[in-house]
Amino acid sequence: MKQLYIAVADCRKVSKQLLQVAAVYPAKLIPVAKLGAVKLYPDALVIVDFQNLTTNVLKPLKTINSNPELSTLGIVEFDNRKQVLQARELGFFNLVDKRGNLTMLLIKLREMFGDYSNPQLSGDFSEKLVNTVKSVCTSFDQMSIAALTDEPLPVSKLAQSAKEITTTIEAEGLDAWLAAVQSHHSHTYCHSMMVTGHAVAFSKSLGMPEAHQIFLGLGGLIHDLGKLKIPLSILDKPGALSEGERNLIDKHPLFSKEILKSHEEIPKEVVELAVSHHEFLDGSGYPDKLSGDQISQAVRMMTIADIFSALTEKRAYKDSYSPRQAIGVMSGMEGKLDEGLLRSFRDSVLDTDLGHLRRAAFQ
Ligand SMILES: [Fe+2]
Ligand SMILES: [Fe+2]
Repeated sequence: MKQLYIAVADCRKVSKQLLQVAAVYPAKLIPVAKLGAVKLYPDALVIVDFQNLTTNVLKPLKTINSNPELSTLGIVEFDNRKQVLQARELGFFNLVDKRGNLTMLLIKLREMFGDYSNPQLSGDFSEKLVNTVKSVCTSFDQMSIAALTDEPLPVSKLAQSAKEITTTIEAEGLDAWLAAVQSHHSHTYCHSMMVTGHAVAFSKSLGMPEAHQIFLGLGGLIHDLGKLKIPLSILDKPGALSEGERNLIDKHPLFSKEILKSHEEIPKEVVELAVSHHEFLDGSGYPDKLSGDQISQAVRMMTIADIFSALTEKRAYKDSYSPRQAIGVMSGMEGKLDEGLLRSFRDSVLDTDLGHLRRAAFQ
């Protein structure tokens, strides 16, 4: 995927519209004044916000437009004639209105840059599997944009995605689902789809009805919604995170709480999954330091699915644990996780391992 730069007059004053873009595309923020001095990635897309630009920083913008390897997009106020003419004179012909809505800007970005959420799955996956991953990514994207623009979240579309995941896993197995989603280029998309797969399979292994599997699946898709407040460049960072970045990520359940308080269309049991999946039974979790009975069974299940996914995910800078090693780590988290549920989860995932071997042997 191309690199996206967001160039503004002052990096401490980024418009809401561009912060929203940074939640949907990984982007590097850069002061316009430094554009001429920094070596930009070839084939990059540079979005320039023309608000508050002084004449002395305009020169590098012309140079950028004379570089055939770069594409540019200007954010201007359409009713500010001087700003529009200035942008055109500097070679910015793709212009978006600063006062327009996020959707318009995203449509333009998709045309120029492609769709970051769209998976390019590398591997030999069935058509059904590929279609399910694609359709789940689309609902995930719709949910993110709705949350960013304060529109109602697409609950029935998300529940439909959760159902598609349950039927795909039923037909192709959990391993096939995990392998497909792990080949998604974005860690953020991969993680939510893995957690959802584990959550529905866990619910099914406990003999819970389909409605419960779908409820937990919906929870899996929404569980890290608050990460929308964190730039994708941090969430999908290919290297290790700094302490500051880690602290910011740890705030995501609080961000979920903040976002979801104005979304009454989401059932409160699902909100609970998003807000409380980092709580531990011994009270050492966050954000509310809940303990024991304050943590519902569904939340306990989501916590197990979330930790197991995080441990077994492949990331560029760390080794992933095998399912057996991950269960070993989780069994060592004394007093934090529900032991009975963890035992059932262990039996179901390690059984899946066996199932995978069995399936491979018959192919
Ligand atoms: Fe989380
Ligand atoms: Fe998570």
